[in-house]
Amino acid sequence: MHTTIDGIRIAYIDEGSGPAVILLHGFPLCRAMWQPQVEALTGAGFRVIAPDLRGFGESDAPAEGYSMDRFADDVAELMTKLGIGRAVVGGMSMGGYILLNLLDRHPEKIAGAAFLLTRCGADDAAGKARRKDLAEAVRAGRRGTVENAFTDMLFAPRTAQARPELVEEVRSWMRAASDNGMAGALLAMGERPDYCGRLGEFHTPALVMGADADRIVPPETIGPFAAALPLSSSCIIPEAGHMANREAPQAFNACLLKFVRLCSQPLEVRGEDRGGV
Ligand code: MLT
Repeated sequence: MHTTIDGIRIAYIDEGSGPAVILLHGFPLCRAMWQPQVEALTGAGFRVIAPDLRGFGESDAPAEGYSMDRFADDVAELMTKLGIGRAVVGGMSMGGYILLNLLDRHPEKIAGAAFLLTRCGADDAAGKARRKDLAEAVRAGRRGTVENAFTDMLFAPRTAQARPELVEEVRSWMRAASDNGMAGALLAMGERPDYCGRLGEFHTPALVMGADADRIVPPETIGPFAAALPLSSSCIIPEAGHMANREAPQAFNACLLKFVRLCSQPLEVRGEDRGGV
């Protein structure tokens, strides 16, 4: 399916019926990454929406205009178009940066915030410089530099060796990303603000999920991220890297489903658990 938002075509999955769950993919991936989660969530009675963010997958890729604000506004406008007032939103890595922006600028739309293999901080000076170098490499026709850099980091070492077909599938999603989207999102990530000091303002039920072999978001950052959110729980997926949703889908789905079910219960049923979702 697709729709037009801000003058560009945005492709998305919309499957199942029930309370809405929106899944935001990471960089430089696309909505196809969520297939095991779409199956699990729709089978459990939820409606799942997963867009290709602008510049990625089958969505249009304008030359300019990439920012965390714009990515978040695209999601907010997609919700309005689909008649969804509030949803649980799960954001993987870059998707989590967009989720933080949504909580900041469109909090009324978020019934639950699932931070999946992501972080609350901004890039440091070296990180920003590396984003710029990678964006320039893409603009100079060397997008393979970005694909290789991310492929190397995305998987637990064990997965990379044992599951070459998964690595190849993920690379095919990277190839679907446009040069504009890659370069634009790299610079947008480099410019994102630091939210770690503001997490106490976000009184939305939250989940922070990590993976024990994630080489992009170290698992030891998950506890402090969750502890700084007023209503949160956390889980660490064993034997998985940054692509935990594909490396260990059962454990990933169990943690996500528990949270999504809790968010869709009426407040009185959540009862005493309100201090720790
Ligand atoms: C992602 O998976 O979205 C990226 O690793 C995020 C990042 O580069 O910061």
